[in-house]
Amino acid sequence: MLLDTFGRVATDLRVSLTDRCNLRCTYCMPEEGLDWLAKPDLLTDDEIVRLIRIAVEHLGVTEVRFTGGEPLLRPGLTGIVARCAELRPRPRMSLTTNGIGLERTAGALRDAGLDRVNVSLDTLDPEVFARLTRRRRHADVLRGLAAAREAGLEPVKVNAVLMAGLNADEAPDLLAWAMAEGYELRFIEQMPLDAQHGWRRSGMITAGDILTALRARFRLEPEPDAARGAAPAERWVVDGGPHRVGIIASVTRPFCRACDRTRLTADGQVRTCLFAREETDLRSALRSGADDGEVAELWRRATLGKKAGSGLDDPGFEQPGRPMSAIGG
Ligand code: GTP
Ligand code: 5AD
Ligand code: SF4
Repeated sequence: MLLDTFGRVATDLRVSLTDRCNLRCTYCMPEEGLDWLAKPDLLTDDEIVRLIRIAVEHLGVTEVRFTGGEPLLRPGLTGIVARCAELRPRPRMSLTTNGIGLERTAGALRDAGLDRVNVSLDTLDPEVFARLTRRRRHADVLRGLAAAREAGLEPVKVNAVLMAGLNADEAPDLLAWAMAEGYELRFIEQMPLDAQHGWRRSGMITAGDILTALRARFRLEPEPDAARGAAPAERWVVDGGPHRVGIIASVTRPFCRACDRTRLTADGQVRTCLFAREETDLRSALRSGADDGEVAELWRRATLGKKAGSGLDDPGFEQPGRPMSAIGG
């Protein structure tokens, strides 16, 4: 198993399939994009499946989430999912996506064995979407969401990041819309993981701000803590139920003590935390002929280096070298 020195066990593996994206969200990357990873540096589909197999068979991983960049840009995604569905014990599999292209792929992904999806959508207004993502793709995302619901990739969760001066006033409208559509909405506090290093604590919309805005229109009761487990979202029951809304307050109410995550970047580096400074190079191990047991041992040792938390509140905190898009959301 992947045990750290604080007694946490990582059972949830997040795999980034590419660092590329077809949107340019202002809280994530600049207009011109980034220096993408070179093809030979990316893990191949076979290497990804092998590492997931090692995680499942040797290390006790039970949940696999595919992320990016934008994971739907990876041509082999459906095949990777299908091969992972053959593993025993079969891991639960989910996808975190911006939804573009999901309209075409949701059914095939479900057939391959994907269990559920989380789709990012920050606004209901196509014009605000175009400013926030620098692309005119709002309608594609809505169609992708509907396709995921129709394919039964449920619960379909929607992730929204609120930004001052852009979509900060949309929290209640987003919740009313998500309830009407049958999606589970979660708000995410903006984290200092953007490529431009433009994040300022003073500029972010906090969980407290979001709750205040929602309470002006809805009655919210906290979901009993027992239901949370290691989930990053704190949840509230809306207007007596059955709908719920979540807030992922990584900055103002970090959940690191319950963290059960381990991460694999698209170029085959293990990261024990979004904010980790160290990486462990599994790609080199694979390519120099390490056997499964040796790779598993490297992963276990990496996990022993996992820090207590993100360090966001430490004096002198600095962003990690990689931006969110290259770590995996
Ligand atoms: P489910 O609720 O099980 O669907 O998982 P999830 O909430 O982890 O999924 P998702 O990929 O949608 O993550 C939502 C957001 O939570 C991410 O985009 C991050 O902003 C934040 N997040 C995910 N993992 C971590 C983490 O390990 N640490 C912190 N601080 N935030 C995370
Ligand atoms: N802070 C918080 N959330 C972010 N996301 C991307 N960058 C950031 C950031 N700096 C979100 C996306 C998506 C998920 C993968 O992470 O909006 O929902
Ligand atoms: Fe886990 Fe790091 Fe995220 Fe905290 S910030 S929840 S320790 S990955």
